[in-house]
Amino acid sequence: MKKRPVNEMKLTLPALPENEAVARGCVSQFVSRADPTVTELADIRCAVSEAVTNSVVHAYGNTPGLIYINARLYEDGRLTVQITDRGCGIPDVALAMTPLYTTDSGGERSGMGFAIMQSFTDGLKVSSRVGGGTRVFMEKYLKRQP
Ligand SMILES: Nc1ncnc2c1ncn2[C@@H]1O[C@H](COP(=O)(O)OP(=O)(O)O)[C@@H](O)[C@H]1O
Ligand SMILES: [Mg+2]
Repeated sequence: MKKRPVNEMKLTLPALPENEAVARGCVSQFVSRADPTVTELADIRCAVSEAVTNSVVHAYGNTPGLIYINARLYEDGRLTVQITDRGCGIPDVALAMTPLYTTDSGGERSGMGFAIMQSFTDGLKVSSRVGGGTRVFMEKYLKRQP
């Protein structure tokens, strides 16, 4: 039987640069209730920032659009965060996830966003369709204090 989350948050935000901080802050507040360690919280904040930044910058290219965030917390300390956009999509997800790969020609991006999401979580899945959008699914196990 599939376990139901003990708490859940759904958040829809317009793809504005300032909403990177809003998304990070809201997920952070949601997770705080589950008593994470300082490191766990910092990791989650960082991973969420990278995903939302990608939606703002790459998916919508700084044009109007919406970002859908869904966070779920389970009894065993498992946290899942899903960040979805309806932007341009990624033609080759495996290539996009390669460390240092970036389509940014301005030299502003490091190409390390997915690598950061990967290293700061316990699981990362990315699904995307060109012209349809991108969904980033992350999970992390909060280690409970004995
Ligand atoms: N939500 C998204 N929509 C469209 N393209 C994306 C999205 N997220 C990532 N990408 C593509 O994947 C590449 C790698 O992303 P990332 O690892 O975060 O590096 P960076 O953002 O520094 O380019 C981006 O340059 C972009 O081409
Ligand atoms: Mg990025």
